[in-house]
Order: sequence, then structure tokens, then C-alpha cells
Amino acid sequence: MGSSSTPIAVPAPRPVARRPEARPPRPSNVTLKVTMAVTGTVFALFVLVHMIGNLKVYTGAAHFDAYAHWLRTLAEPLLPYEGALWIFRVVLLLCLAAHIGASLVLIGRAHRAKGRFRRRGMGWRRLPATGMPVTGLVLLIFVVVHILDLTTGTKPVAAQGFESATEQTSPAYHNLVESLQRWPMALFYLAVMLLLGLHLVHGLWTLATDFGVTGRRTRRVWALAGMAFAAAVMLGNASIPIAVLAGGVG
Ligand code: HEM
Repeated sequence: MGSSSTPIAVPAPRPVARRPEARPPRPSNVTLKVTMAVTGTVFALFVLVHMIGNLKVYTGAAHFDAYAHWLRTLAEPLLPYEGALWIFRVVLLLCLAAHIGASLVLIGRAHRAKGRFRRRGMGWRRLPATGMPVTGLVLLIFVVVHILDLTTGTKPVAAQGFESATEQTSPAYHNLVESLQRWPMALFYLAVMLLLGLHLVHGLWTLATDFGVTGRRTRRVWALAGMAFAAAVMLGNASIPIAVLAGGVG
């Protein structure tokens, strides 16, 4: 008797529904973080150099105005009047656009990834860290007010006695004193310098992570250096409205 084998029906494999592969977001978080770090470094250097320049106000009107005039005539005759200044302005503006753009994308992604989870164990760093968008926005508003006040002399932001710079002279000292003698404006400058200090402390701290600084000791030194940097910029600048209000400059 021959055995008749019944063929076993093997079900055809069901087509596996392939999930579309999660594509990494573009631009990547690393690109955005590096953009923030590089542009943030440019700003940190700018506010440091600007603060050192501002301190020239203590050397008197002639020196301060000569410095403001030098900024406008820098690299003449290779560049026209204010040529170098315009190069700085364009570079800063591009950095600002990149810094804000990258921060908005990163904040959006962080919110989506985190959901309702709240980071713990940040200690005193929570305030500057979570306040970054707010302090950043206030700084942006400050820069607009500051330019209307001391560069373009646009009323009613600028003081009544504002005088424009010419190719011969830059009355920066006079404009600074006229502006900061108005106590609401001086208080605004003071408050913003405090927020600038907070923004710098956290920004400089995150630079350590963004640039891959991992050693415990190095990170501690970095944090202290960041705090010293932020305090120097904040106090150096804050001393000026105080000095004008107190009558020490004017
Ligand atoms: C108490 C603090 C500050 C004082 C006394 C001060 C003073 C001045 C003065 C006198 C000018 C006009 C210079 C000129 O006409 O040659 C100026 C311009 C400017 N400052 Fe400040 N500044 C302060 C803080 C800041 C901060 C914190 C920032 C940035 C976050 C900043 C950004 C600028 C910018 C972008 C300009 C315009 C430069 C231009 O395009 O001509 N300043 N500042």
C-alpha cells in the first residue's frame, strides 16, 4: 500500500506592513546646537568687547566720542565711511537670525519629545535654563530699543537732545548721557543687564556640552569662568546707568 502524502498547504507569507522608517529630522539637532553655540559665542564676544568699549565713558567725552568715530572710520579709505561698521552689523544680524531660528526649532522639538515630563535636579540652574526664551526675547526687544535710542535717535525712544553722527564727529557721549539721565530708561538698562547676565550664565554653560567638554573638573572650571564672564559684562555695563543717574558721568 503506497502512502499518499497530502501536501500541506503552507500559507503564503502575509506581506509585512512595513512601517515607514523614522527619518532623522533635518536640520539635525547637532547642526542646530552647533549653530546656537557658534552664534552664541559671537554674541558673547560682542557683548564683552562692547562692554569694554562702553567703559571708555569713564575716560571722558573726548575719548568716548573719538572711539565712536573710530568705529565709523575703521579701515578707511579701503572701506567707505561706516563700511566696517556695516560689515559687523550684517554679520551680527545673520548670527541673530540663525540663533533665533535654531532656538525656535530646538524648543519645538524638545517640547514634543518631553511631553509633560519635567526635568528634575537642576537646582539653581532651573531659573536661567527655563528662562532662556524669555530673557532672549527681552534682549531682542532691548536691542531694538537701544538702536532707536542711541544709533538712529528715533523719538520718542531717543532723548530730545539726541544728535546724529556725521563724517566729522560722533556725539556718542552726549547721547548716552542724555538718554540715561531719564531714570525710566536707566532702570530699563539696569534690568536688562541683569537678564543679560542670566542669559550669558546659562548660554556659556551649555557651550561646554555643545563643544563636547566632558571632564568633571574641566566642566566645573568652565562653569566658574562662564559665571565670571557674565558677571563682568553685567556689572561693567550696569555701572554706566548707575554712574549717569548718580551724576558721576555727565
Ligand atoms: C549699559 C549697557 C550699554 C551701553 C551703555 C551701551 C552703549 C551703546 C552706545 C553708546 C552705542 C552707540 C555707539 C555709537 O553710536 O557709536 C551702542 C550701540 C549698540 N549697542 Fe550698546 N550699550 C549697552 C549694552 C548693549 C547690549 C547688552 C547689547 C547687545 C545685547 C548692545 C548692542 C548694541 C548694538 C547692536 C548697537 C548698535 C551698533 C551700531 O550698529 O551702530 N548694547 N551701545
